[in-house]
Amino acid sequence: MYDFKTAATDKTAFYADLLAAAAALTASERDAIANMANIAALVFDWMPRLNWAGFYRVIEGELVLGPFQGKAACIRIPLGQGVCGAAATSGSSQIVEDVHAFPGHIACDLASRSELVVPVIIDDAVIAVLDLDSPDLARFDVADRTGMEALAAMLAPRICP
Ligand code: SME
Repeated sequence: MYDFKTAATDKTAFYADLLAAAAALTASERDAIANMANIAALVFDWMPRLNWAGFYRVIEGELVLGPFQGKAACIRIPLGQGVCGAAATSGSSQIVEDVHAFPGHIACDLASRSELVVPVIIDDAVIAVLDLDSPDLARFDVADRTGMEALAAMLAPRICP
C-alpha cells in the first residue's frame, strides 16, 4: 500500500503535492491501466467533495470508461456528447458549475452537481479525459483546472496505450 499524504492548506501547495505524489506513483510503471487506476484512487482519496474521479479513454472515435473511483458509470460516450465529450473534441478543459444547466450533460450519478473535465493530450491528440464530479455546486475553480492540467500533462506519456 502507498500512503501519500498532503498537509497543504491552499490549492497551490495542494496541487504541487498532488503532482509530486502522482509522478512518484507512476514513474516506474509502464502499464497505462495501472497508472490510471492509481491516479484515480489518489485524486479521489485526496480531494474533498468528490463523488467520482476517473478516466475515459479515446478509442476508435468514442470515449470508453477507464479506471475510476465512485459509482459504476456510463461505459461509452460519443465524442462531442456530455461534458467529457466536449473536452475531448475541443481539447480544452471544461468547468461546469451546475451540470443541470449544461446542455447534453450525461447523468451517470444523480448526486453530481458540478464537474471538471481535463483532456489528456499527446502530440496534439486527445488520448483520454480526466473527469471529476462533485455533489456540490461550483466545486471547481481555475486553480483546480490549472492543477489538473499540470497533472494531465505529466501523466500523458504514462497512460499512453
Ligand atoms: N457527466 C459526464 C459523464 C461521465 S460521468 O459523470 C462519470 C458527462 O456529461 O460527460
